[in-house]
Parts: sequence; structure tokens; C-alpha cells
Amino acid sequence: MSEELLYAGKAKSVYRSDSPGELIVVFRDDITAFDGGRKDVLSRKGEYNARVSAHLFELLEEAGVPTHFLRLEGPARMRVRRLAMVPLEVIVRNRAAGSLVRNYPFESGEPLDPPLIVIDHKDDARHDPMVNDEIILALGLLGRAELDAMKALALRVNGVLLELFGACGLDLVDFKVEFGRDEWGRLRLGDEVSMDSMRLWSRETGESLDKDVYRLGTGDVLGAYARVAERLGLEM
Ligand code: ATP
Ligand code: TYD
Repeated sequence: MSEELLYAGKAKSVYRSDSPGELIVVFRDDITAFDGGRKDVLSRKGEYNARVSAHLFELLEEAGVPTHFLRLEGPARMRVRRLAMVPLEVIVRNRAAGSLVRNYPFESGEPLDPPLIVIDHKDDARHDPMVNDEIILALGLLGRAELDAMKALALRVNGVLLELFGACGLDLVDFKVEFGRDEWGRLRLGDEVSMDSMRLWSRETGESLDKDVYRLGTGDVLGAYARVAERLGLEM
């Protein structure tokens, strides 16, 4: 690839493109868990995440959620609008799972209605601590109106995804999204929306079809990702 590498994260690489306002995101086959403590390479994982993310970004745009997505330019290569990322991980939870069950007295799978929004500060050196509104405002990461707008967007994403996955027999347990500001300062959904960043449970069997298969070491990770793509009607 001739483009200049701007940033290589744990699972994606970001390249400068031929246009200043646009970037190329390459979804790699690397998979990590436990704060980078476990790492592997799974052939074609990047393709699955890129394809599913692209599909979900398109549906979200149609539903009125501004995203960074422009188009796929190869199996694992996505052209996006360059955003000034807000260093927050916005997690929406419809059922208790993962860290919520480890850290608080919730039962695994317990419905959360209304959905919970939990926000972590993206700061690897400090292991991404959870923050609240006051900390976000005091750090100057967002203003009050922008913070409210970001949460409203995250809930709109949740509404769209709940309906979509529900129609495919999948329970959307939780997911993480990231937002950034475009060149006009408008908040847009960035990064990815994929099986790496959400929990999906099969309604028939209760099994996980997401990165928990890797975290828990319970089986065929790529097979699970392929089943999600198939349920969404995507040909790979
Ligand atoms: P983490 O896994 O904790 O999210 P990471 O940096 O390892 O962190 P990757 O997904 O591998 O994550 O890297 C992708 C990087 O690109 C992230 O830092 C993400 O915030 C950033 N990014 C995503 N979309 C855009 C965009 N449209 N413009 C600029 N940067 C973006
Ligand atoms: P959470 O239960 O907080 O994390 P853990 O992986 O420690 O159990 O995760 C909630 C959801 O958000 C889950 O679907 C995974 C996703 N997520 C990410 O994609 N990246 C992250 O850095 C975090 C903390 C969560």
C-alpha cells in the first residue's frame, strides 16, 4: 500500500488517503483481549468486521445517524471521513454482561430497561477508566450539549441495532461505539460497529456469536463471526 500509515491500533490500521478529509481504515486479522494480554491472528476476521461494519454504518446513516463511513474499497479496506476522535468509549447495555457483572451485583443476562450507558476514557496507560458526566466536562472532552447529543446518538444506534439483530434472531446484549467531530465540528459515529465491539447472543441457543468466543476460548471465533454476517444476509 502506498499510503502513509498514520496509526496502527490493536485491530485496525489508519492510513492517510489521496484526499485530506478522508482516511483509509484497514481492518486487520489481529484479535486481542484482556487489555492486549492475549493476541492472535485469525485469517479473514478483518474482512468480516469490515463488511458487517460497512453494512451497519449504511443502515445507521439511513436511520439518521451521521457516520464516518464513505465506502469499502476492498475486502477489509474502508474509506472514511477523517474525524477528530473524542477519546471516549460509549458502551450501551441492554443486558448485564462482562465488566458490569464482574464489578456490580447484576445477574448475567439480566435485562436493563432503560438501557445503561457507561462511558470509559480511552487512555491505555490508565487502562481506560470509567468516567461520569462531571469528569468528562471537567476534562473538557465535550460540552454539556455535545455530551447529551452523543448519548442520544448512542441510544439511536442502539434502537436501530436492536431492531435489526432482533429480526435476525440475535439478542444485542451490549456494544461499544466511538464518536468524533467532522470538519464542521459535527459529531459523527466513527471507528467500527462489529462483532469485536458488541455482544450478540443467539435467541435459539443462548450461545455467544461475538468476541466473547475468543475471550472465553469456547470455540470457533471465525465461525461465529461468519454466522452473524450470514444472518444479516451478507455474502462474503
Ligand atoms: P482500542 O482497541 O482501545 O479502541 P486501538 O487504538 O487499539 O484502541 P484500533 O481500532 O486498532 O483501536 O485503531 C483504530 C484507531 O482509529 C482508533 O484509535 C480510533 O479511535 C481511530 N479512528 C477510528 N475512526 C476514525 C476516523 N474516522 N478518523 C480518525 N480516527 C479514527
Ligand atoms: P465490557 O463488559 O465493559 O468489557 P469486557 O470485555 O471487559 O467484559 O464491554 C462491554 C461491551 O463493549 C462489549 O460488547 C465489548 C465492548 N468493548 C469494546 O469493544 N472495547 C472496549 O475497550 C471495551 C471496554 C468494551
